[in-house]
Amino acid sequence: MRENERGFLNSNIENLACPRCRGKLKLSRENLVCQSCHQDYHTPDNIIRLFWPNEWEASKGDVTEKIKAFYEETPFPDYDEYDNIGSLIEKSRRGIFAKLLDDQIPFGTRILECGCGTGQLTNFLSVANRTVIGTDICLNSLQMAQDFKECNELNNAFFIQMNLFRPCFQPNSFDLVISNGVLHHTSDPFLGFKTLSELVKPRGYILIGLYHKHGRIFTDIRRFLFKISRDKLKFMDRRTINKNISESKRNSWFNDQYKNPHESKHTIGEVLQWLKDIGFTFVKSIPKTVPFEGFRETEKLFKPDKPGNKLARSMVEFSKIFTGSGEGGFFIIIAKKPGSSPT
Ligand SMILES: C[S@@+](CC[C@H](N)C(=O)[O-])C[C@H]1O[C@@H](n2cnc3c(N)ncnc32)[C@H](O)[C@@H]1O
Ligand SMILES: [Zn+2]
Repeated sequence: MRENERGFLNSNIENLACPRCRGKLKLSRENLVCQSCHQDYHTPDNIIRLFWPNEWEASKGDVTEKIKAFYEETPFPDYDEYDNIGSLIEKSRRGIFAKLLDDQIPFGTRILECGCGTGQLTNFLSVANRTVIGTDICLNSLQMAQDFKECNELNNAFFIQMNLFRPCFQPNSFDLVISNGVLHHTSDPFLGFKTLSELVKPRGYILIGLYHKHGRIFTDIRRFLFKISRDKLKFMDRRTINKNISESKRNSWFNDQYKNPHESKHTIGEVLQWLKDIGFTFVKSIPKTVPFEGFRETEKLFKPDKPGNKLARSMVEFSKIFTGSGEGGFFIIIAKKPGSSPT
């Protein structure tokens, strides 16, 4: 294990928890060992291994292994061949959302990303002196994330193999927990959301991105057409044929969008109910909950908006049919954990 990862584990050992029993962990050589159940987590390289399966009763159904196998085969979103830290910053900041996050999350913030895939956002956000921990179940994705980190000496980014339903952190550990495009690939998105919310510090934030119920209608139609044409109509997806993107990245997008073994779809209204259930307050949604109110480059991401009334939201949700499918038909919600201690 490199000095960087060893130093991280030593200085964060109090924040770590055994994903099996929630006990305290101790670092000895290449292993993290639980002080309570004695489970030994061997970390043979620089990706910290703290994965534990869900252990749900069989009747609940669990797609974790199927999803893991899928992303081990095609890690997402992958890197372009010549990506380096300069091009990552440039590409990330071209997207207004990543740029706003980078501009508005203070230096020194502790961030956890769950389902980080190949680690672009974790690596990008770590540049401005924030500690960012990227976690995923897929080792091949984490390896690409770690390779990029090492090549570019991003010593504030760390990668851990972790199942978001069995976190390896103590509750109230992070200023911000991000999970973008992940929960809809699990068997129980609300349980996942609730589990992640427990890791947020009082007055900290959670940010989730989910597939929208209406935003993926055209994607679903294309998926059907690709299936019956045995992918001969692939050109109908613009990104799949964009020659400015490397072949492996295009392939990764195509598989993620059209061959995924499991996805569910959600609405803003549904997530507002989740917030009520866990006692978080709504801060922001993209798209906005009020019709015709666009998302601007000057948007203050952490300044609370009103969740809007049901009619206004229905109009916004309906419009996702026409605006959604290009970028995957996502919506994003930011919410805040109540509490008295400042972030
Ligand atoms: C569509 S990719 C999103 C990657 C990245 N967040 C992004 O936006 O580009 C979904 C990721 O979620 C991960 N994932 C799925 N189920 C998970 C679980 N139970 N715990 C942690 N990660 C999970 C997958 O391995 C995959 O890398
Ligand atoms: Zn344990």
